[in-house]
Amino acid sequence: MLVLGLETSCDETSVAVVENGMRVQSCVIASSGKDFESVGGVIPEEAARKQLEVILPVIEKALNDAGATYSDLDAIAVTAGPGLIGSLLVGTMTARALSTIWDKPLIPVHHTLGHLSSTWLTNTDANIEPVFPIMTLSVSGGHSDLWYRTSHTQGRLVGSTKDDAAGEAFDKGAVLLGLPYPGGPALAKLAEGGNDTAYDFPLPLKQDTEVAFSFSGLKTSLKYLLQKLPSPPSEAIRKDVAASFQRAICLHLQDKLSRALELHPETKELHLVGGVSANICLRQTCQALADTHGIVLRYPETIRFCTDNGAMIAAAGAFLAQEQPDTIGRHFETSAVMNLQETLRPF
Ligand code: KG4
Ligand code: ZN
Repeated sequence: MLVLGLETSCDETSVAVVENGMRVQSCVIASSGKDFESVGGVIPEEAARKQLEVILPVIEKALNDAGATYSDLDAIAVTAGPGLIGSLLVGTMTARALSTIWDKPLIPVHHTLGHLSSTWLTNTDANIEPVFPIMTLSVSGGHSDLWYRTSHTQGRLVGSTKDDAAGEAFDKGAVLLGLPYPGGPALAKLAEGGNDTAYDFPLPLKQDTEVAFSFSGLKTSLKYLLQKLPSPPSEAIRKDVAASFQRAICLHLQDKLSRALELHPETKELHLVGGVSANICLRQTCQALADTHGIVLRYPETIRFCTDNGAMIAAAGAFLAQEQPDTIGRHFETSAVMNLQETLRPF
């Protein structure tokens, strides 16, 4: 099954051609993120205007890179939500038009189901499929959720954040450290070579046995720590602070993941997805946890599959078509707010 996937939920305009939900034949990503570096965040209307300019050339390039034409496609998958409404509309209106003009079925996809499908994506001919049940930590700038699934589209939410998302914690921490937007990669870079035990941060929700995350306390601790340090702090101090703060985020995620795995001892694989899954410290912390539980850890094959991309939407579209054929061509609304639990079936 050859699917064209469109993802435009934030500042990226990404289109990909994916075979059978795995083999990525092309993946083009145009981001307007650089335009927002100076303002420290995405301006929704501006992002959507940029997407309107580039969406057709990006689609054309994705088809060319894959050596395909529209007649080779079996379906078009598009992010229906959640996200920035103007941006989502650029993707879904384009997909609706192409679906009609090209006479191809349209599959609406929840953005997070795209991320959950990103661990299947490969640029090679390797055919190593993950094995269910899978516990997936989905961590990005907009959410920090833990999903337990027995198939691609069967499962439930095990826990989520009570306040900020993990990516938001990185981004806000980066602002406090005077780093550019998006802060995650910049903070991770600054942390390289820093001493990650130089400063103590509290372990959030330590006494709480439920699976939930909270990052706002860590951000406040960082703010007070920086107020106590010499101003401006030396580069060596900034590196130690960044490394300690990054470690604190990762230890909190590891702590709650460990609790979730205790609740679901039948779990075969632990997956990390979303922008923050690019973080090396998080990967190392989770590898240690997976080793303790004797299970496999997986994260997307390349960094471009961690952050928002069209390939994950094409993959999720193919899996939905397999497991929930009634999704193909169904009526749907483009929506800024959307609950993945409504897509997932109980197991
Ligand atoms: O999934 P994504 O591309 O977009 C959303 O759906 O939000 O995730 C973006 C988030 C940002 O908060 C960014 O700072 C974070 O992922 N991020 C990272 C790293 N790369 C991206 N956080 C920590 N370490 C990284 N290497
Ligand atoms: Zn995302």
